[in-house]
Amino acid sequence: MNPRFVTGWVLFLLLLPLMAPAQQHTPMQHERMNAEHMTAPMSDERQWVKVPEVLRSHMLANMRDHLKTLNRLHGLLGSGRFEEAADLAEQRLGLASLQLHGASRIGPYMPKRMAEIGTGMHKAASRFALAARDAAVNGNVSAALNALADVTAQCVACHDGYRVQ
Ligand code: HEC
Repeated sequence: MNPRFVTGWVLFLLLLPLMAPAQQHTPMQHERMNAEHMTAPMSDERQWVKVPEVLRSHMLANMRDHLKTLNRLHGLLGSGRFEEAADLAEQRLGLASLQLHGASRIGPYMPKRMAEIGTGMHKAASRFALAARDAAVNGNVSAALNALADVTAQCVACHDGYRVQ
């Protein structure tokens, strides 16, 4: 046999594995690789806040109610029902809601800054209620939306800083 032919074959066989199609990955592996490429691993530096279990579950239920309220507020604003938005915000998120959320029981467990953000959220919600009432009169929806963004800014600030156990 032609020695060059044999060398060619040997080389071909040696290189074959390199020519194999790119390694196959399961969907899970793909997910993980995509996540790694898109963002650096997220470090979680939120401060732990210790709260008795019964208060913790009460607090998380309040949180879910906050989200539900935000959702309803957006719907009410979108359909021009400003007075209803004002009432809802005041009752469920505003200063009038402090009693409803048992703030006085949970407050003492919160670090000072966290409690300040919480109060800031209730105040922002009451300001939103005023802006929504104004919108009912002068049609200034954008002021009401800005006021609502001030409310959600407090949700974000607290979630960035704290977690409960
Ligand atoms: C003063 C702090 C603070 C404010 C203000 C705040 N949250 Fe939270 N929220 C928390 C903490 C702490 C958790 C628990 C996070 C954890 O332990 O990982 C939480 C959890 C949640 C959860 C998850 C509930 C569950 O069942 O796990 C939702 C939803 C939520 N918040 C919505 C909101 C919305 C919407 C707002 C604003 C209208 C808001 N929160 C304002 C502190 C806050």
